[in-house]
Amino acid sequence: MPYETISVQKLTPAIGAEIHGVDLGRPLGNQTFQEIHEALMENQVIFFRNQHIDHAQHKDFGRRFGALHMHPAAPQLIKEHPEVFVIHADEKSTYVNGEGWHSDVSCDGEPPMGSILYMHELPPDGGGDTMFASMYAAYEALSEPLKILLSGMTAIHSGEHVYRGRYGNDDRAKKYPESEHPVVRTHPVTGRQALFVNRGFTRRIVQLSRPESDAVLQMLFRHVETPEFQCRFAWKPYSIAFWDNRCAQHKAVWDYYPNTRHGYRVTVAGDRPFYRAGNA
Ligand code: SIN
Repeated sequence: MPYETISVQKLTPAIGAEIHGVDLGRPLGNQTFQEIHEALMENQVIFFRNQHIDHAQHKDFGRRFGALHMHPAAPQLIKEHPEVFVIHADEKSTYVNGEGWHSDVSCDGEPPMGSILYMHELPPDGGGDTMFASMYAAYEALSEPLKILLSGMTAIHSGEHVYRGRYGNDDRAKKYPESEHPVVRTHPVTGRQALFVNRGFTRRIVQLSRPESDAVLQMLFRHVETPEFQCRFAWKPYSIAFWDNRCAQHKAVWDYYPNTRHGYRVTVAGDRPFYRAGNA
């Protein structure tokens, strides 16, 4: 589609685009909102530079795309803004959020549609990029027999092994989400098919024996890491990345220890994944 109020510069043919000509600190007109939405649908992850917004504006931007999602495990560190997920790493960190390839909170019955990450502080010596991979490209690159096999299947996505003990919560009674989702997911807006298993959360393909499931999942997790499906975003202070969890995975590269990286994520709620046969 031709864009009239924004300009869109692709990072790679498969995934990612930088958006220019928008100030997210000002009210977003309907046309600009539609064009940003369109750019997200076309590119799976979009980036904005040099944006100056507060937590309320960050949440308002997210709400243009849907209700906000509450993380099932992360602590709510900003009292007035419980929906804002603080992303922070420094010399005391023993892990960082999103270090492995994943789609956010895919263990939820209705996993988040999208995530909007706003970085304030980046490591002084570089590093701290985020990598993104197109799950349309991953699906499309599979052979036809494998596409047919996977299309009828479902997989279990679990939060237990990811979240238990992670955020200092030692409440043994706390339950983390677990859900069964199609292995190939039809995107509800674009209608395109996307591979929907990830190394972070996906534990087992329901219709296969344990050894078969392990082998197929390992093969798919490695497939997701194919460089040709990816783009890599080099952050600057006050950049924003907005990704569509329904068709993209991401990985935060932790190559900057012991330096500090700090930002905020607002997450937009999504719907129950489904598979519709016959789509491309
Ligand atoms: C995340 O998975 O939301 C973290 C991504 C990042 O810090 O780059």
